[in-house]
Amino acid sequence: MKYTEMNKQQLKDELNALKEKYDSFLNMHLKLDMSRGKPGSDQLDISNDLLTMVTPGNTKTENGVECRNYGGIDGIPEMKKIFAQLFDCPADNIIIGENSSLHMMFDIIAQAMSHGLDGETPWVLQDKVKFLCPSPGYDRHFGVTEYFGIENILVPMTPTGPDMDMVEELVKDPCVKGIWCVPKYSNPDGITYSDETVRRFAALKPAANDFRIMWDNAYAVHDLYEDQKDNLLPLYPECVKNGTEKMVLMFMSTSKITHPGSGVCALCASSHNIDLMKYRISFQTIGPDKVNQLRHVRFLQSFSHIEEIMKQHAAILRPKFKCVLDTFEKELSPCGAGHWTNPNGGYFISYYAPDGCAKRIVELCKNAGLVTTPAGSAYPYGNDPHDSHIRVAPTYPSLHELQTAVELFTVCARIAYIEKIMA
Ligand SMILES: Cc1ncc(COP(=O)(O)O)c(C=O)c1O
Repeated sequence: MKYTEMNKQQLKDELNALKEKYDSFLNMHLKLDMSRGKPGSDQLDISNDLLTMVTPGNTKTENGVECRNYGGIDGIPEMKKIFAQLFDCPADNIIIGENSSLHMMFDIIAQAMSHGLDGETPWVLQDKVKFLCPSPGYDRHFGVTEYFGIENILVPMTPTGPDMDMVEELVKDPCVKGIWCVPKYSNPDGITYSDETVRRFAALKPAANDFRIMWDNAYAVHDLYEDQKDNLLPLYPECVKNGTEKMVLMFMSTSKITHPGSGVCALCASSHNIDLMKYRISFQTIGPDKVNQLRHVRFLQSFSHIEEIMKQHAAILRPKFKCVLDTFEKELSPCGAGHWTNPNGGYFISYYAPDGCAKRIVELCKNAGLVTTPAGSAYPYGNDPHDSHIRVAPTYPSLHELQTAVELFTVCARIAYIEKIMA
């Protein structure tokens, strides 16, 4: 029965029963974590062969470059070729970075702040700089721009991507310098931008010449199901059609393909932008970790082999997503406590509590030993206007731990909902 259909006494009885359940979780002295989108150790094991792919006497690229030495600031050709397949772009338009695409994004914003982009005034010298943040979105993206004192502007997400009417309107302001995007299996909603959304991005006419779309395709190959895969229209060719390719900077990494702590990332951009980035990088480093690139090339081999690796990840992740979704359905649907996403890929499920309940749920979870992402963290400045959203990250705990964590979560969600109705 829906809680909104219960009378006061029924709600009181239900709350008492839930509190008893909650107490039994308290007595378990749990230490559970559903907060971050980290692969589990069994997922890391899929790529263990990486660790033996480069051995003494076996450290050169196909064209004889010694990977143990300095040099090759934009990456080895074989690694670019693999990312070219992933980005669907020419290898010449790619720079290979170290293990973190977030680091690359941070560097670009830092460069824009201190030196400006493409001859424009450095952002730090401009009166006001604003960035668009489709929300709920990736907290660490918003953290980068917040760190630099850039004003983060909330743009609501829709089932087809960011609200493009609003984006088109906001970019008329010359202070708006960019937008954070996770176009496929978005963090946290698992939404893939529609073809129309991609085309509207490619056709954007921002007032600022130094406006950049930060296109973070972190979950490009992270399908959960063989028969239900989202397709993302490639942005770059659409930009070329519109003559807007300088507006887009695209990122990817192997963090959730191989090992996040020792993977490889890449930037894909127009030739002009690539030249500008290479110039900056030439002051930053004498060369990246090419040994790591070489072992990734040997382990990943090709796009089709990456697809095989991703099937192994999906086999581990599917039961975890199912565990969350089945438990939500069983425990939360009958009483009408919120709604949630059911993505075809990526790393997250978004739970939307009835308005005003998210912080309380997180508090109840925390007091019983379950860490979740803080309520509101998927919004600029951690401020969810509805206090509704909680990002659920099912990948890291074992299936057994996850089952306990989700059961506890649903008890907390129901308690918070009844408390709200009775307040
Ligand atoms: C959308 C998105 N981008 C980037 C990252 C981090 O990527 P990297 O490990 O390449 O820095 C994550 C990690 O959760 C993510 O969800």
